[in-house]
Amino acid sequence: MWEDRAVSIATSAPSPVGFPEPAPSALLLLGRGVDLASERGVECVGDLPSPSDPDLVERARAARAALGDRAFILGHHYQRDEVIDFADVTGDSFKLAREAAARPDAEFVIFCGVHFMAESADILTSDTQQVILPDLAAGCSMADMAAIDQVEDAWDVLVDAGVAERTVPVTYMNSTAAIKAFTGRHGGTICTSSNAHVALRWAFDQVGGVDGTGKVLFMPDQHLGRNTAVRELGLSLEDCVVFDPRKPNGGLTTEELEAARMILWRGHCSVHGRFSERNVTDIRAAAPGVTVLVHPECKNEVVEAADMVGSTEYIIKALDAAPAGSVWAIGTELNLVRRLAAAHPDKQVHYLDSTVCFCSTMNRIDLPHLVWAMESLVAGRTVNRIVVDADDAHWARVALDQMLALPGY
Ligand code: 13P
Ligand code: SF4
Repeated sequence: MWEDRAVSIATSAPSPVGFPEPAPSALLLLGRGVDLASERGVECVGDLPSPSDPDLVERARAARAALGDRAFILGHHYQRDEVIDFADVTGDSFKLAREAAARPDAEFVIFCGVHFMAESADILTSDTQQVILPDLAAGCSMADMAAIDQVEDAWDVLVDAGVAERTVPVTYMNSTAAIKAFTGRHGGTICTSSNAHVALRWAFDQVGGVDGTGKVLFMPDQHLGRNTAVRELGLSLEDCVVFDPRKPNGGLTTEELEAARMILWRGHCSVHGRFSERNVTDIRAAAPGVTVLVHPECKNEVVEAADMVGSTEYIIKALDAAPAGSVWAIGTELNLVRRLAAAHPDKQVHYLDSTVCFCSTMNRIDLPHLVWAMESLVAGRTVNRIVVDADDAHWARVALDQMLALPGY
């Protein structure tokens, strides 16, 4: 029952009854670094401490103390509690990239998040700094839905259809460095879930404005692109088409491309994409007076059915500002919702759907991997360093700098 779950989530964090820790999945080994040609079979190259080692927390404290100011540890909001406990700063993907850039004296930036975030940190830090991802299998299934050769092919389709010169790429932060670099090379911008509306307006302004005939190629999250275009810019669902990289010409005719304003890449978040309109209906029936707050990576029908929509940072601020006794249902990753429930015992915090779970790749970063990474650095061994190719880093930086230059950002 929703009421029961709200109580369990609010009172028993960090180990609530009814929310088992995810088992490592042999089927979802994303990330890069060991075998660049494959997303599978990425194994930790060192001797990981056992998760049941009774000295694990003490080892983490000792390694952290030994590294001192040489290391700076970043923790994304979706990370496990055991990892967040050792983060020097927590945040969403963009805030963490900025935090990394603001620590030029840190020799090591240990990124507790996923691969594309560590890449962005490497792009924004100096060449003398080393960015470490404690588990190379911590990839992002959404970022991996847009491979660079697919994107290059898609652009050729737009050229052949005669629309490329009126199209500006807008790429979500949740993408590989190669796709960010493509965006920079083609005069586009990066965006995050909190500034997507500003980025879209800017992009349309480059090709005649929102009311003109110019287009945006939005990658890789179709839902963020659609939700932003329809809810914030006043475009219609009919203005949006989905480009499927697995189909010839993206599955679109020249006429459809010509008529479209938003060309949405066929990608989605495997966590947020699971929330349904039915979840919203059910929670409204079970918890009268509930405010439903979801992330814009959710499907359009979910976002339309919700009361509020916002990025990870927005969700945190909304809960902070909410009055005692208020009732909330949150549609985002479970680690964050559990922490919000624990931080707000005076409010009723529901998880929007019981079948949606943790982001399995975010959860790859656990205390054993963090201890292994830190102890290796203490011993003088740099492990799991993330380095972006210099040319890609240059052009990705151009696209990131364009985002930083957006009005009001
Ligand atoms: P933000 O970090 O921008 O909130 O994005 C959510 C997400 O899915 C991160 O992987
Ligand atoms: Fe990728 Fe979604 Fe996980 Fe974020 S929550 S890392 S977008 S799969």
